[in-house]
Amino acid sequence: MTSYKLVCVVAMAENNVIGDGRDLLWHLPGDLKRVKTLTMGCPLIMGRKTWDSIGRALPGRASIVLTRDKNWSADGAITVTSLEEAISASKAWLTEQGTQENRIILFGGGQIYKLGLPLCQEIELTRVAASPDAEAKFPEFDATDWVSENLETFEASDVAPAFSYHRLTRRGAPISV
Ligand SMILES: NC(=O)c1ccc[n+]([C@@H]2O[C@H](COP(=O)([O-])OP(=O)(O)OC[C@H]3O[C@@H](n4cnc5c(N)ncnc54)[C@H](OP(=O)(O)O)[C@@H]3O)[C@@H](O)[C@H]2O)c1
Repeated sequence: MTSYKLVCVVAMAENNVIGDGRDLLWHLPGDLKRVKTLTMGCPLIMGRKTWDSIGRALPGRASIVLTRDKNWSADGAITVTSLEEAISASKAWLTEQGTQENRIILFGGGQIYKLGLPLCQEIELTRVAASPDAEAKFPEFDATDWVSENLETFEASDVAPAFSYHRLTRRGAPISV
């Protein structure tokens, strides 16, 4: 039987800010490409507000959208009303694809990270050297629960703040969903 893992993909500032509900807070060269590579072929579990901020389904991936509104629908979105349902829909989509992929991506935003982080086995983190004043935040988490591997660091440039890529793996017995 396939064992599935929930992997969080997030870019956050030093103060854990992830977004302001409207525009992108930063433009990091290469980061969108990295997100594409990390998520291609996977189901993405996202909140309805994140869906609205993207505005469309991302090709090659399933958009599993969490909302409390049972009547909500959008072209290209799979509507779910609980995290459990989101995980079941993700597994069903992967089975339909006939793929060996076993990662389900926790794609944000703040409310959905808070809901799903306790079930995550890994966090693919982009840390941005900025502290914007905005509402949507990643939940507080205990860094000692995670082993952090620093993957790559980029200096600030004229167009972007400094940023770095990290892979955090949960300590202890792996969690599958
Ligand atoms: N930097 C990053 O990596 C990153 C990644 C993703 C998103 N973001 C940013 O994050 C911001 C959005 O985050 P957010 O926290 O405001 O919103 P969000 O988490 O994207 O979505 C919140 C919505 O999800 C639904 N929801 C929440 N909890 C639920 C539950 N237990 N059961 C069913 N549905 C539930 C509700 O939808 P209804 O209101 O329809 O009921 C709620 O309004 C945007 O600015 C976006 O750009 C940043």
